[in-house]
Amino acid sequence: MKALILVGGYGTRLRPLTLSVPKPLVDFCNKPILLHQVEALVKAGVDHVVLAVSYMSELLEREMRIQEQRLGIRISLSHEKEPLGTAGPLALARELLNIDNEPFFVLNSDVICDFPFKDLLQFHRNHGKEGTIVVTRVEEPSKYGVVVFETESGRIHRFVEKPQVFVSNKINAGIYIFNPSMLSRIQLRPTSIEKEIFPVMAEEGHLYAMELQGFWMDIGQPKDFLTGMCMYLQSVRQHAPERLRTGPGFLGNVVVVSSDTFCRKVSEGKNIPA
Ligand code: GDD
Ligand code: MG
Repeated sequence: MKALILVGGYGTRLRPLTLSVPKPLVDFCNKPILLHQVEALVKAGVDHVVLAVSYMSELLEREMRIQEQRLGIRISLSHEKEPLGTAGPLALARELLNIDNEPFFVLNSDVICDFPFKDLLQFHRNHGKEGTIVVTRVEEPSKYGVVVFETESGRIHRFVEKPQVFVSNKINAGIYIFNPSMLSRIQLRPTSIEKEIFPVMAEEGHLYAMELQGFWMDIGQPKDFLTGMCMYLQSVRQHAPERLRTGPGFLGNVVVVSSDTFCRKVSEGKNIPA
């Protein structure tokens, strides 16, 4: 299976973390954000990941070659000459995504949760339409893409990006699966998937929603990055408490980076989380 991750630009909103490394390599609980996503994709059977980037980064390319070897998968970098938004990159990578007529995953690069890729594939195959969006509930829906759907079937009636008035508190979690046929909806130009593609797919009955269980956060801004980290650690407490350090001097949910990893990162000039 294949997946495309929308990596985007320089991550200016995450400065100063992005001054020393490109956004996808910023550590989130001792592991680059991107690797949390890629490893979860690999567990669900993905063997080819396309990174849609609108800038060149030697560090990112080098790190991806290492990860290709380690994970035994293929990682392609799809470079945009100009930023193509959230849909244009899919058109640019059309030939990589549309090889075997199998569905492919798409992810925003700044979202963290217990990624539900296997359930998403199953749900998507069951309804048989062109696309499925993972949705979650939030306090402040106006910052996100809001989704109105039938609770029973999951069929989406409306998709409204960053609404000015209250529509619903169920929002687009930035995790999708599509059939390759949806690629014919996107032209090779800067295009917003949320504003130009989803509303049409919803109107045609081709877009379904699957509700996410557990925590979710968009960690693209410093305050949300910290909140997301606390949520992630709480989830580790629930599902894999052996990964947390306990004992004298440790309060709350704590993970500790091994000294080997620490030294490697210092020697490579990467930033180390406090
Ligand atoms: N390759 C590429 N090129 N990626 C891009 C570009 C581009 O021109 N523009 C944005 N991206 C990437 C970003 O790096 C990010 O991973 C993703 O697309 C979404 O962009 P954001 O800028 O983070 O959007 P947002 O957080 O305001 O809203 C999006 O995410 C919400 C969930 O966090 C939308 O998809 C909302 O509908 C959604 O609710
Ligand atoms: Mg975001």
